[in-house]
Amino acid sequence: MAAKLRLYLLEEAKPGMVLGADVVSARGKIMLSANTILTDGMIQRLSCWGFTGIVIIEDDAESPALRNKKRADRVVFNAQYDQTVTIVKKAFEHIRMFKEIPFEQIREVTDDTVMALIGTPGALGYLHSLRSIDNYTFQHSVNVAIIVGVLCKWLDRGEEETKELIFAGLLHDIGKALVPPEILNKPGKLTPPEMGIMKRHATLGYEAARKAAILNRDVLKGIWQHHERLDGSGYPQGIGGEEVAFSAKIVAIADIYDAMTSDRVYRNRLTPFAAIKTLFESMFDKLDAAICTVFLSNLKDYFVGTAVNLTDGRLGEIIYMDGLAWDRITVKTADGECIELHENHDIQIDVFFYA
Ligand SMILES: [Fe+2]
Repeated sequence: MAAKLRLYLLEEAKPGMVLGADVVSARGKIMLSANTILTDGMIQRLSCWGFTGIVIIEDDAESPALRNKKRADRVVFNAQYDQTVTIVKKAFEHIRMFKEIPFEQIREVTDDTVMALIGTPGALGYLHSLRSIDNYTFQHSVNVAIIVGVLCKWLDRGEEETKELIFAGLLHDIGKALVPPEILNKPGKLTPPEMGIMKRHATLGYEAARKAAILNRDVLKGIWQHHERLDGSGYPQGIGGEEVAFSAKIVAIADIYDAMTSDRVYRNRLTPFAAIKTLFESMFDKLDAAICTVFLSNLKDYFVGTAVNLTDGRLGEIIYMDGLAWDRITVKTADGECIELHENHDIQIDVFFYA
């Protein structure tokens, strides 16, 4: 699914080459976006900023028509995504002021825009370059809805059920609009009493949804139970096993994956590989193993062919990833060495460049 890419030392880069991946600073800021056509000035700036390598789309890997179509798809995706984030942001402001969910608006965005977003090839990969700390809560709601929607497609769920589960994804954290902002946006670790207040968001969201006459049980349980875990270790009720609804199980997986791969005020984002490791470790006790298996085995298709920076400083490309063993990843470095990451625990993926 990823484009055919080649790693170049910056000194080999030439004007006119097309960036195959975002150039991201050590702090996670996007300095130049994928698909940018390089100019002399840009190459000089990258050198001043201390970058030594970049990822370029190989000339013969994609026809110009295909490349243009992908660029056009990406522009439409970004515009629809931004529009959805704005609507969710307004919905949060509305509920904070009026204590009620403007659910018709959210329903509309679910049925039209989010359904279109999940139909875009590469949608889950695009989410990795659309991150901002300021809009975290709203972007997270949209991201969870998109991940849930894509997962529903992989799980072969029908269109009507998919729409309800996307709706649950968009609304899953709506109760956070009723949590005091000083706790919600606190940059440091929450104290135990603050954590207790924060944890109320699941029940507050469920109650607000009921008050807004949202009657679908999947949606209500998706909101109320998305922090429940199958071993009973979650909240707010501490239920487990079959008591946890399917909608809550699917939202939980999307929630964990997106939260881990997002920048937070208290830490930088983790790579998808760290999130994948967590899902693997939790899938046999806390999360639904069947849903995790489908998610992880499909997710690997996004990352094979992806350029990465290793913790030893070398650039490389993922050439193999096992969908059912999180650490079985093979990286071919720019100098031609193939590294099995599960046999070289000292070397890990530090940064990845999704095209
Ligand atoms: Fe939550």
